[in-house]
Amino acid sequence: MSEQRRKERIAGAFSASAGAYDAVADVQWMVSDRLAQRIAAAPPPAPARILEIGCGTGFLSARLKELYPEAQLTLTDISASMLERCRTRLGDGPLYRVLDGERPEELEGGFDLIASSLAVQWFVDLGDGLARLSRLLAPNGRLVFATLGAKTFREWRQAHAALKLDCGTPTYPAPEELPWPPGLSHAVADELLLHPYADGADFVRSLKALGAGEPAPGHQPLSPGAFRRLLASLSGEFSATYHLLYGEIRA
Ligand SMILES: C[S@@+](CC[C@H](N)C(=O)[O-])C[C@H]1O[C@@H](n2cnc3c(N)ncnc32)[C@H](O)[C@@H]1O
Repeated sequence: MSEQRRKERIAGAFSASAGAYDAVADVQWMVSDRLAQRIAAAPPPAPARILEIGCGTGFLSARLKELYPEAQLTLTDISASMLERCRTRLGDGPLYRVLDGERPEELEGGFDLIASSLAVQWFVDLGDGLARLSRLLAPNGRLVFATLGAKTFREWRQAHAALKLDCGTPTYPAPEELPWPPGLSHAVADELLLHPYADGADFVRSLKALGAGEPAPGHQPLSPGAFRRLLASLSGEFSATYHLLYGEIRA
Protein backbone atom coordinates (compact mmCIF):
# COMPACT_ATOMS: atom_id res chain seq x y z
CA MET A 1 0.00 0.00 0.00
CA SER A 2 1.37 3.45 -0.92
CA GLU A 3 2.10 6.04 1.76
CA GLN A 4 -0.74 8.18 0.43
CA ARG A 5 -3.26 5.32 0.53
CA ARG A 6 -2.25 4.47 4.10
CA LYS A 7 -2.67 8.10 5.15
CA GLU A 8 -6.12 8.22 3.50
CA ARG A 9 -7.15 5.13 5.44
CA ILE A 10 -5.87 6.57 8.73
CA ALA A 11 -7.59 9.92 8.10
CA GLY A 12 -10.79 8.11 7.07
CA ALA A 13 -10.84 5.96 10.21
CA PHE A 14 -10.36 8.97 12.50
CA SER A 15 -12.94 11.02 10.56
CA ALA A 16 -15.47 8.20 10.97
CA SER A 17 -14.80 8.17 14.73
CA ALA A 18 -14.71 11.92 15.31
CA GLY A 19 -18.20 12.04 16.86
CA ALA A 20 -17.58 9.17 19.28
CA TYR A 21 -13.92 9.89 20.06
CA ASP A 22 -14.25 11.94 23.26
CA ALA A 23 -16.40 9.30 24.95
CA VAL A 24 -13.84 6.51 24.44
CA ALA A 25 -10.53 8.39 24.59
CA ASP A 26 -9.79 8.23 28.31
CA VAL A 27 -6.13 7.21 27.83
CA GLN A 28 -5.65 9.96 25.23
CA TRP A 29 -7.17 12.49 27.63
CA MET A 30 -4.81 11.45 30.41
CA VAL A 31 -1.75 11.56 28.12
CA SER A 32 -2.65 15.03 26.82
CA ASP A 33 -2.94 16.19 30.44
CA ARG A 34 0.52 14.79 31.29
CA LEU A 35 2.01 16.35 28.17
CA ALA A 36 0.44 19.72 29.02
CA GLN A 37 2.05 19.53 32.47
CA ARG A 38 5.45 18.88 30.88
CA ILE A 39 4.98 21.79 28.49
CA ALA A 40 3.90 24.10 31.33
CA ALA A 41 6.97 23.17 33.40
CA ALA A 42 9.30 24.96 30.94
CA PRO A 43 10.78 28.25 32.12
CA PRO A 44 9.56 31.56 30.57
CA PRO A 45 9.26 33.19 28.11
CA ALA A 46 5.85 31.84 27.09
CA PRO A 47 5.73 30.71 23.44
CA ALA A 48 4.23 33.29 21.09
CA ARG A 49 3.63 30.98 18.09
CA ILE A 50 2.45 27.42 18.69
CA LEU A 51 1.83 24.60 16.20
CA GLU A 52 -0.02 21.43 17.16
CA ILE A 53 0.20 18.29 15.03
CA GLY A 54 -2.67 15.76 15.10
CA CYS A 55 -4.81 17.89 17.41
CA GLY A 56 -7.79 15.51 17.14
CA THR A 57 -10.84 16.90 18.93
CA GLY A 58 -8.65 19.31 20.90
CA PHE A 59 -7.72 17.75 24.27
CA LEU A 60 -4.20 19.23 24.21
CA SER A 61 -5.27 22.25 22.15
CA ALA A 62 -7.62 23.38 24.93
CA ARG A 63 -4.82 23.08 27.48
CA LEU A 64 -2.44 25.05 25.25
CA LYS A 65 -5.02 27.81 24.90
CA GLU A 66 -5.49 27.95 28.70
CA LEU A 67 -1.74 27.94 29.35
CA TYR A 68 -0.83 30.51 26.68
CA PRO A 69 -3.88 32.74 26.04
CA GLU A 70 -1.78 35.32 24.19
CA ALA A 71 -0.17 32.84 21.78
CA GLN A 72 -1.11 32.39 18.13
CA LEU A 73 -2.22 28.76 17.85
CA THR A 74 -2.07 26.80 14.59
CA LEU A 75 -4.01 23.56 15.07
CA THR A 76 -3.64 20.82 12.47
CA ASP A 77 -4.83 17.28 11.81
CA ILE A 78 -4.87 14.94 8.85
CA SER A 79 -8.60 14.33 9.44
CA ALA A 80 -10.93 17.21 8.50
CA SER A 81 -13.68 15.87 10.79
CA MET A 82 -11.39 15.69 13.83
CA LEU A 83 -10.24 19.23 13.10
CA GLU A 84 -13.87 20.40 12.88
CA ARG A 85 -14.53 18.91 16.35
CA CYS A 86 -11.51 20.80 17.58
CA ARG A 87 -12.91 24.02 16.14
CA THR A 88 -16.21 23.34 17.93
CA ARG A 89 -14.29 22.95 21.22
CA LEU A 90 -11.99 25.98 20.90
CA GLY A 91 -13.89 28.42 18.68
CA ASP A 92 -12.56 30.75 16.02
CA GLY A 93 -9.40 32.20 17.65
CA PRO A 94 -6.83 29.63 16.45
CA LEU A 95 -5.86 28.90 12.82
CA TYR A 96 -7.03 25.46 11.64
CA ARG A 97 -5.35 23.49 8.85
CA VAL A 98 -5.92 19.99 7.50
CA LEU A 99 -2.30 18.80 7.31
CA ASP A 100 -0.24 15.64 7.19
CA GLY A 101 2.11 16.44 10.08
CA GLU A 102 4.82 14.34 8.50
CA ARG A 103 4.87 16.71 5.50
CA PRO A 104 4.55 20.15 7.09
CA GLU A 105 6.67 22.06 4.53
CA GLU A 106 3.71 24.18 3.40
CA LEU A 107 3.72 25.91 6.80
CA GLU A 108 5.80 28.98 7.48
CA GLY A 109 8.29 28.16 10.26
CA GLY A 110 9.31 30.11 13.32
CA PHE A 111 7.25 28.24 15.94
CA ASP A 112 8.34 28.63 19.56
CA LEU A 113 6.51 25.45 20.48
CA ILE A 114 5.43 22.48 18.36
CA ALA A 115 3.33 20.01 20.35
CA SER A 116 1.74 16.68 19.51
CA SER A 117 -0.06 14.12 21.66
CA LEU A 118 -0.41 10.53 20.43
CA ALA A 119 -0.35 11.39 16.72
CA VAL A 120 3.24 10.90 15.46
CA GLN A 121 3.02 7.11 15.95
CA TRP A 122 0.95 7.24 12.75
CA PHE A 123 3.84 8.69 10.73
CA VAL A 124 5.23 6.40 8.05
CA ASP A 125 8.79 7.55 8.87
CA LEU A 126 9.05 9.06 12.35
CA GLY A 127 12.68 10.19 11.94
CA ASP A 128 11.98 12.10 8.72
CA GLY A 129 8.78 13.57 10.17
CA LEU A 130 10.50 14.81 13.35
CA ALA A 131 13.37 16.27 11.30
CA ARG A 132 10.95 18.18 9.05
CA LEU A 133 9.00 19.48 12.04
CA SER A 134 12.23 20.54 13.79
CA ARG A 135 13.06 22.74 10.82
CA LEU A 136 9.92 24.77 11.62
CA LEU A 137 11.18 25.69 15.10
CA ALA A 138 12.22 29.24 15.96
CA PRO A 139 15.63 29.65 17.63
CA ASN A 140 15.29 28.17 21.15
CA GLY A 141 11.96 26.62 20.14
CA ARG A 142 10.82 23.23 21.47
CA LEU A 143 9.14 20.26 19.83
CA VAL A 144 7.34 18.28 22.54
CA PHE A 145 5.44 15.10 21.80
CA ALA A 146 3.87 12.02 23.33
CA THR A 147 3.94 8.80 21.33
CA LEU A 148 3.71 5.04 21.82
CA GLY A 149 6.67 2.87 22.80
CA ALA A 150 7.77 -0.71 22.16
CA LYS A 151 5.86 -2.34 25.04
CA THR A 152 2.50 -0.98 23.89
CA PHE A 153 -0.14 -3.75 23.76
CA ARG A 154 2.43 -6.41 24.64
CA GLU A 155 -0.36 -8.60 26.11
CA TRP A 156 -2.17 -8.47 22.77
CA ARG A 157 1.03 -9.42 20.92
CA GLN A 158 1.64 -12.27 23.42
CA ALA A 159 -1.89 -13.61 22.88
CA HIS A 160 -1.18 -13.76 19.13
CA ALA A 161 2.21 -15.41 19.69
CA ALA A 162 0.65 -18.06 21.97
CA LEU A 163 -1.60 -19.11 19.06
CA LYS A 164 1.14 -18.59 16.44
CA LEU A 165 -0.87 -15.82 14.76
CA ASP A 166 0.50 -12.73 13.04
CA CYS A 167 -0.24 -9.59 15.06
CA GLY A 168 -1.29 -6.40 13.24
CA THR A 169 -0.17 -4.04 16.00
CA PRO A 170 2.48 -1.71 14.52
CA THR A 171 6.04 -1.90 15.88
CA TYR A 172 6.86 1.07 18.10
CA PRO A 173 10.33 2.23 19.21
CA ALA A 174 11.93 1.70 22.62
CA PRO A 175 12.85 5.06 24.22
CA GLU A 176 16.50 4.62 23.19
CA GLU A 177 15.45 3.89 19.61
CA LEU A 178 13.65 7.17 18.95
CA PRO A 179 15.08 8.63 15.72
CA TRP A 180 16.25 12.09 16.76
CA PRO A 181 17.13 14.77 14.20
CA PRO A 182 20.92 15.21 14.08
CA GLY A 183 22.50 18.23 15.73
CA LEU A 184 19.66 19.12 18.10
CA SER A 185 19.46 18.38 21.81
CA HIS A 186 16.76 15.98 22.91
CA ALA A 187 15.33 14.15 25.91
CA VAL A 188 12.85 11.33 26.47
CA ALA A 189 10.95 9.92 29.45
CA ASP A 190 8.68 6.91 29.46
CA GLU A 191 5.80 5.50 31.44
CA LEU A 192 3.80 2.24 31.50
CA LEU A 193 0.06 2.52 31.88
CA LEU A 194 -2.10 -0.59 32.27
CA HIS A 195 -5.65 -0.09 30.99
CA PRO A 196 -8.36 -2.63 31.89
CA TYR A 197 -10.93 -3.87 29.36
CA ALA A 198 -13.88 -6.22 29.92
CA ASP A 199 -12.19 -8.75 27.59
CA GLY A 200 -10.22 -8.96 24.33
CA ALA A 201 -13.27 -8.12 22.23
CA ASP A 202 -13.83 -4.97 24.29
CA PHE A 203 -10.19 -3.95 23.64
CA VAL A 204 -10.67 -4.35 19.86
CA ARG A 205 -13.99 -2.46 19.93
CA SER A 206 -12.40 0.41 21.87
CA LEU A 207 -9.55 0.83 19.37
CA LYS A 208 -12.00 0.79 16.47
CA ALA A 209 -14.28 3.31 18.20
CA LEU A 210 -11.28 5.63 18.62
CA GLY A 211 -10.40 5.35 14.93
CA ALA A 212 -7.14 3.62 15.82
CA GLY A 213 -7.81 0.24 14.21
CA GLU A 214 -5.56 0.57 11.14
CA PRO A 215 -3.02 -2.29 11.32
CA ALA A 216 0.70 -2.19 10.55
CA PRO A 217 1.55 -1.81 6.84
CA GLY A 218 1.44 -5.15 5.02
CA HIS A 219 -0.49 -6.99 7.74
CA GLN A 220 -2.90 -9.59 6.40
CA PRO A 221 -6.12 -9.68 8.46
CA LEU A 222 -6.68 -12.89 10.46
CA SER A 223 -9.25 -15.32 9.13
CA PRO A 224 -12.60 -15.16 10.99
CA GLY A 225 -11.79 -18.53 12.62
CA ALA A 226 -8.35 -17.41 13.81
CA PHE A 227 -9.84 -14.17 15.15
CA ARG A 228 -12.50 -16.12 17.06
CA ARG A 229 -9.83 -18.36 18.61
CA LEU A 230 -7.84 -15.30 19.59
CA LEU A 231 -10.80 -13.63 21.29
CA ALA A 232 -11.76 -16.92 22.98
CA SER A 233 -8.28 -16.98 24.54
CA LEU A 234 -8.96 -13.48 25.96
CA SER A 235 -12.47 -14.04 27.26
CA GLY A 236 -11.91 -12.79 30.82
CA GLU A 237 -10.83 -9.34 31.97
CA PHE A 238 -8.00 -8.14 29.75
CA SER A 239 -5.53 -5.38 30.59
CA ALA A 240 -3.42 -3.74 27.87
CA THR A 241 -0.18 -1.83 28.42
CA TYR A 242 0.23 1.62 26.93
CA HIS A 243 3.95 2.38 26.79
CA LEU A 244 4.08 6.15 26.65
CA LEU A 245 7.13 8.05 25.41
CA TYR A 246 7.38 11.78 26.11
CA GLY A 247 9.99 13.31 23.81
CA GLU A 248 11.45 16.77 23.50
CA ILE A 249 13.70 18.34 20.86
CA ARG A 250 15.27 21.78 21.37
CA ALA A 251 16.38 24.06 18.56
C1 LIG B 1 -5.17 9.11 18.91
S1 LIG B 1 -5.66 10.60 18.12
C2 LIG B 1 -4.97 11.84 19.21
C3 LIG B 1 -5.70 13.14 19.03
C4 LIG B 1 -5.36 14.21 20.07
N1 LIG B 1 -3.99 14.66 19.93
C5 LIG B 1 -5.62 13.66 21.45
O1 LIG B 1 -4.68 13.56 22.21
O2 LIG B 1 -6.78 13.32 21.73
C6 LIG B 1 -4.54 10.68 16.74
C7 LIG B 1 -4.80 11.88 15.85
O3 LIG B 1 -3.71 12.01 14.94
C8 LIG B 1 -4.22 12.31 13.67
N2 LIG B 1 -3.22 11.89 12.69
C9 LIG B 1 -2.89 10.64 12.30
N3 LIG B 1 -1.90 10.67 11.40
C10 LIG B 1 -1.59 11.98 11.22
C11 LIG B 1 -0.64 12.68 10.41
N4 LIG B 1 0.19 12.02 9.57
N5 LIG B 1 -0.61 14.02 10.48
C12 LIG B 1 -1.45 14.69 11.29
N6 LIG B 1 -2.36 14.10 12.07
C13 LIG B 1 -2.43 12.76 12.04
C14 LIG B 1 -5.54 11.57 13.60
O4 LIG B 1 -6.40 12.08 12.61
C15 LIG B 1 -6.08 11.77 15.01
O5 LIG B 1 -6.82 12.96 15.13
